[in-house]
Amino acid sequence: MAKSQIKRIGVLTGGGDCPGLNAVIRAVVKTAINKYDLEVVGFLDGFGGLINNMAKRMDLAAVSGILPRGGTILGTTNRDNPFRYPIMKDGERVYVDMSDHIINNLKEMEVDALVVIGGDGSLSIAKEFCDKGLPVIGVPKTIDNDLSATDVTFGFDTALVTATEAIDKLHTTAESHHRVMVLEVMGRYAGWIALHSGVAGGADVILIPEIPFTFENVCRKIVSRKLKGKKFSIVVVAEGAKPAGGEMVIQKMIEDSADPVRLGGIGNVVGSELEKCTGMETRVTVLGHLQRGGSPTPFDRLLGTRYGAHAVKILMEGKIGEMVCLRGTNIESVPIAEAVRELRRVPADSDVVFAAKAVGIGFGDA
Ligand code: F6P
Repeated sequence: MAKSQIKRIGVLTGGGDCPGLNAVIRAVVKTAINKYDLEVVGFLDGFGGLINNMAKRMDLAAVSGILPRGGTILGTTNRDNPFRYPIMKDGERVYVDMSDHIINNLKEMEVDALVVIGGDGSLSIAKEFCDKGLPVIGVPKTIDNDLSATDVTFGFDTALVTATEAIDKLHTTAESHHRVMVLEVMGRYAGWIALHSGVAGGADVILIPEIPFTFENVCRKIVSRKLKGKKFSIVVVAEGAKPAGGEMVIQKMIEDSADPVRLGGIGNVVGSELEKCTGMETRVTVLGHLQRGGSPTPFDRLLGTRYGAHAVKILMEGKIGEMVCLRGTNIESVPIAEAVRELRRVPADSDVVFAAKAVGIGFGDA
């Protein structure tokens, strides 16, 4: 579609929420109106809003005051895949393809293009719409920081602050009671939150999915600290961490979600093993969705604003099917297909892992 044909754009947030979504929405709306004289429609609750025609006009007043707010003013869901949408038929649950219905709805509403703010699940759906000819631009979000085509996703920095503050607080009580304190953090199949918060918070052991651990190694590390007079230890465990030869701990399965697996529970497994093998009193904290809440940090507000403004810019330049990304210090864009091809995980030769080991943090691998 030639750029002059775009008069009205839609915006939606899909997948799990994360701090900074409102900064992106605000930047999309303001850039579209102020710089390109476009109209903007916000679709509510992710792709569900497209299926069920839940939309609202987004003018400048609609985005006023939302920059410091966590969550998303548009609502979101990690269900409602339009290409595999569940309905009840003759008392049975069946899955139907609603994508043509959505494309017709958008035509009727005279929405010419979409900005999809989401993680790998929502961006994969965005790519399928692109393949059907709908002009879509992607914006990468997730606290997990696990999208391969961008150096950083917004939301990660805020989650990091929350996790680091938790480690700081656990330190004081661990020290007072001479305990082992285990903190389980999110991150799905990548250990970015555990690694970065663990180093920033001065953890003694960090367990991440990319480095399988043994309980013996973790235990040895904690006992050796005790023998040196350090009568407490802080262990940060990523929800996707697993012992060598073992499996990730699954908390539950969510039907209709792009990735139905919900990890969780490894913190308690680690806690009880460590209590047994070290003989030290151990407590476990699962940080959970606190990591997704709260006001975004200045870094996430800035990154979200840059992403949102750039998304509208590349749309108007005709770069359809691209996702904005951060490369070094620059905002660039890549094809969405490339962006969702593989997860970004902590590399074995990560300089952060090197630094962590150099300052004495154990990973349970030696
Ligand atoms: O992808 C973000 C994330 O918070 C993961 O870190 C976590 O595993 C998952 O979402 C939790 O999903 P839900 O909100 O469905 O429990």
